[in-house]
Amino acid sequence: MKIAIRYYTKGGNTKKLADAISQATGIAAESVEQPLAEDVDILFLCSSVYWAGVDEKVKAFLKAPGHKIGKIVNVSTAALIESTYKQIKSLAAEAGIALDKREFHCRGSFAALHRGKPDQNDLENVKKFAKMIVEEA
Ligand SMILES: Cc1cc2nc3c(=O)[nH]c(=O)nc-3n(C[C@H](O)[C@H](O)[C@H](O)COP(=O)(O)O)c2cc1C
Repeated sequence: MKIAIRYYTKGGNTKKLADAISQATGIAAESVEQPLAEDVDILFLCSSVYWAGVDEKVKAFLKAPGHKIGKIVNVSTAALIESTYKQIKSLAAEAGIALDKREFHCRGSFAALHRGKPDQNDLENVKKFAKMIVEEA
């Protein structure tokens, strides 16, 4: 079972989730600017929204990930929206990549909103989520 973790972060919130998944799985978490080094069965894709859209670098990665992706598992932080699932679903569909129905989302701090998020509890929860995905695969 080949697994990879990619993230895009502007302020560090989403990277916290990617790093927690890395701790739980023993797989390095890398930026979406780093193409995949090999075909993977599961890609944990950690993203966020900025003025309602995912960053261009996430879009560019999904258009040209470097290698085949069996399925994406969506992981996100945001201040207001429920998750990036909808955005990633449409980008994954365009790229012909399957997207797991299960996802992990938590609030991410933004200005005075959600200070301290993701917090320790979120990091523990995303670790449990990642382990569950990997163990059930
Ligand atoms: C420039 C900017 C625009 C944002 N726009 C939105 C938005 O439209 N909707 C939303 O829910 N959150 C928005 N946020 C909040 C981010 O999604 C939230 O802070 C997220 O955790 C940022 O992740 P990061 O620290 O990994 O970049 C915005 C944040 C920034 C910095």
